[in-house]
Amino acid sequence: MKDSNFLKEKNARSLWHPMAHPADSLANPPTIVTEAEGVNIVDVDGHKVVDGVGGLWNVNLGFSCQPVKDAISAQLERMPYYSTFRGTTNDVVIELSEELREFFAPEGLTRAFYTSGGSDSVETALRLSRQYHKIKGEAARTKFLSLKKGYHGTHFGGASVNGNANFRTAYEPLLAGCHHIPAPYTYRNPFNETDPEKLSQLCLAALEDEIAFQGAGTIAAFIMEPVLGAGGVIPPHESFMPGVREICSKHGILLIADEVITAFGRTGSWSGSRHWGVQPDFMCTAKAITNGYFPFGAVMIADEVAQVFESDETGKAAIGHGYTYSGHPVGAAAALACLAETKRLKVNENAAARGKDLHEGLQALHAKHEVIGDVRGGEGLMCALELVSDRSSKAPIDKGTINKVQEAAYAEGAMVRVSGPNIILSPPLVLTSADVQTILTALEKGLSAAS
Ligand SMILES: Cc1ncc(COP(=O)(O)O)c(C=O)c1O
Repeated sequence: MKDSNFLKEKNARSLWHPMAHPADSLANPPTIVTEAEGVNIVDVDGHKVVDGVGGLWNVNLGFSCQPVKDAISAQLERMPYYSTFRGTTNDVVIELSEELREFFAPEGLTRAFYTSGGSDSVETALRLSRQYHKIKGEAARTKFLSLKKGYHGTHFGGASVNGNANFRTAYEPLLAGCHHIPAPYTYRNPFNETDPEKLSQLCLAALEDEIAFQGAGTIAAFIMEPVLGAGGVIPPHESFMPGVREICSKHGILLIADEVITAFGRTGSWSGSRHWGVQPDFMCTAKAITNGYFPFGAVMIADEVAQVFESDETGKAAIGHGYTYSGHPVGAAAALACLAETKRLKVNENAAARGKDLHEGLQALHAKHEVIGDVRGGEGLMCALELVSDRSSKAPIDKGTINKVQEAAYAEGAMVRVSGPNIILSPPLVLTSADVQTILTALEKGLSAAS
């Protein structure tokens, strides 16, 4: 490793950071993380903190998961790459597909299509859902519906169904035929409704209304996160996703569950869909499938959808989509080891228990700190604080103040993530009660520093 002077001097000079203004990265150089162990990260100055971000919602098993590291190095040694494009495959990806089929049997998902990450998984599901309707002779079904506030990655398809202007405006025009309905976000919504169940019904009515307006026969799929994540952790009422499923089925619209962050235990259930008792038509996964140790993803496909493709005799079901790294053997080996550890450690159970502790702790902070407008969580280890400059008007917090909270919390022992007016927490699922306390104490200090 280069010495710390070199790293600090060159920081952000020769690279552009995702989701950042290049000038801001130069003016406020990012934290240089050089080591990681368990649920902790260590920066270039030797400052060690609990990682409340869990890498980026992906390091569910922490940074020291030896079986995954061993699987990666053994696979690299034996066969570092071979393609799964037509005509060839590799042994590991066959084994992984059988494991995933068993893991997602309760959701009725029996086939996998592999990708290199979450945005690829979203793109794959959007494309295959259009193709599904073409195979069935309904070529006019090309549009996509989604939720405002939703996040679906940054490819053109994903950005088009994204529900946040920050990821859209600079890149417009986006894909035609993508329409959005209000999210079940009790703190701010166009209905001025704070009751989660009533808001869920209003959003479902808005979905019915949009389908009637567009014409069901023009819509390919509805895509949603079971719990909205990057948009500020918005857990819907339990009636919402089952309601969406019912409406989609009634109108012949496919339901894509974007579970890039919720699959593999984060909500306290093995998937967000299972959490709400829903069987989607496609499920996008990535991130925790390899614990973040290798870029990899899988789109899981419902048996009924698979039957339509596999029984086609016209040639229309030939898949003209895929990535060089689809089914990468090193990624597949990492995913196999990761799945085994995920199940062995029952990280979903710890996510539920520690998620409850964290949510309760954040609610206690709300009682003490005026700057907290809303506390969201309660569905596993994903929580957010929405900060405001004035509680009664809900005027958003300014950037300087929220950054001060983040910096002070970091100095006190926890890395937390700022996204717009939100502080987002998505720690590893192997977090202990003591780690939860460390995060809460650090946040308390951060909030005090800012007020
Ligand atoms: C729900 C959801 N979908 C898609 C993505 C995009 O994944 P990636 O950044 O791996 O492309 C993300 C990333 O955070 C996500 O949270």
